[in-house]
Amino acid sequence: MAVARLAVDPAFVVGDLDRRVFGSFVEHMGRCVYTGIYEPDHPTADEDGFRTDVLDLVRELGVTVVRYPGGNFVSNYAWEDGVGPKDGRPRRLDLAWRAIETNQFGTDEFAAWARKAGVEPMWAVNLGTRGVTEAIELLQYVNGEPGTDIADRRVANGSEKPYDIKLWCLGNELDGPWQIGHKTADEYARLAEETARAMRRVDPDLELVACGSSNRKMPTFASWERTVLERTYDVVDHISLHAYYEPKDGDTASFLAVAEDMDRFIRSVVATADHVGAVKQSDKKITLSFDEWNVWYQGRFPGESGLKVREASPLIEDVYDVTDAVVVGSLLITLLRHADRVKIANQAQLVNVIAPILTEPGGTAWRQTIFHPFALTSKYAGSRVLRTEVTGPVVETDAFGNVPALWSTATYDEESGEVALFVVNRSETDEIECEIPLGALEAALGPLHLVEHVGLYDDDRSAVNGPEHPDRVVPKRIDGTRITDGTCVATLPAASWHLVRLSPGGNS
Ligand code: AHR
Repeated sequence: MAVARLAVDPAFVVGDLDRRVFGSFVEHMGRCVYTGIYEPDHPTADEDGFRTDVLDLVRELGVTVVRYPGGNFVSNYAWEDGVGPKDGRPRRLDLAWRAIETNQFGTDEFAAWARKAGVEPMWAVNLGTRGVTEAIELLQYVNGEPGTDIADRRVANGSEKPYDIKLWCLGNELDGPWQIGHKTADEYARLAEETARAMRRVDPDLELVACGSSNRKMPTFASWERTVLERTYDVVDHISLHAYYEPKDGDTASFLAVAEDMDRFIRSVVATADHVGAVKQSDKKITLSFDEWNVWYQGRFPGESGLKVREASPLIEDVYDVTDAVVVGSLLITLLRHADRVKIANQAQLVNVIAPILTEPGGTAWRQTIFHPFALTSKYAGSRVLRTEVTGPVVETDAFGNVPALWSTATYDEESGEVALFVVNRSETDEIECEIPLGALEAALGPLHLVEHVGLYDDDRSAVNGPEHPDRVVPKRIDGTRITDGTCVATLPAASWHLVRLSPGGNS
């Protein structure tokens, strides 16, 4: 069996982990909202019409922050349509997804849902068809103290207390020609700057995210970021990144290695942001909001113009298999590896639409394969991310050249003293024995013992979960892992994701 060596040292700190990297995304798209999180007729619905079976799964997933209401949807959305008495709310044609939007779920409902889910809301304003006025009115509606016309509308709608939402996206993917209200970099930069300045007059403590490129392959990638940041550097905190991955032409080897793309994307955006900062001679660092990422089989999507106009009909409800879950695990590892600069990340989306949770209208809700690496990473990642270095076998890929077979990160938790190692074996064919010398960790933390090793893999990599077999794919406890002579030794099957937990004290 091939052997790899994974070095980890508590002195090699990447950065403190911002738990907002375990974010998700709820868009008015397909069945994410309607029959996803909101279904008043569902047997588990609460007094607000929220599915409590879904709320339970969202809490179990360990989501920390949820972006809302889009996505492409936000770029032609009028938030005013979604507040006030429900029977007075207009039915509208949503141009992003060519759907009928009933507006039965809107701003107040999302704020209430987020509170019940225990997540921080991250709100996007419409900078496609609208602009500064709409953004500051929405901000005053949600955050304003009673006593002004707009804040009092919220009070009249049942919420005396401001929602106090701090995290705001200045539009969505406005570099993309598919976006309603698509803009050039100069047009967007100017609008984002003006909107940010006005929003900060309402509330100086906001955290603002400027739109970066829709993906790394956009023809304007990097020059878009440069132009936008040249104008907004002093008034925004984060720049956004979006990336979706799928296997191309059956090339699983490259698919298993797509974390390379995410890694290069992050490095390029950091370099671009720092270049702008250097030219400005600024000490400020722009941080990254990777506010859409996931596996998405875009090849199966007919495109927006091919959609029949309907109400809350299924859209991109990808069913994920074991390989997809391993890839999702590797993307989470990548986000952690950049903990010094990636402060927010949102897996897109939360329910039904390319999601870790699927539901049947009126029926059950279950965990997709990709649910598991997310939930375990969110649960066990500690407060500080440590750099890992791997020596060992490489895999050849068409898309990224030769890449290390093992992709990894580690965390140390200051409160519990626990060390968590997250590792993916990206080889499609080879089991790998992974040796983790514990000398540097034990010198700093004292003796460690193995708490557990769990992995996600399966002889049948096309296995999926479904309503009849919701737990067909779940993480497995791996018993053979041991600590011998100060080295933890674990066998990692081909195409697998792993969590190894070590805790101070004694042997196991
Ligand atoms: O998440 C699905 C869509 O992907 C979002 O609406 C958009 O922002 C992105 O292109």
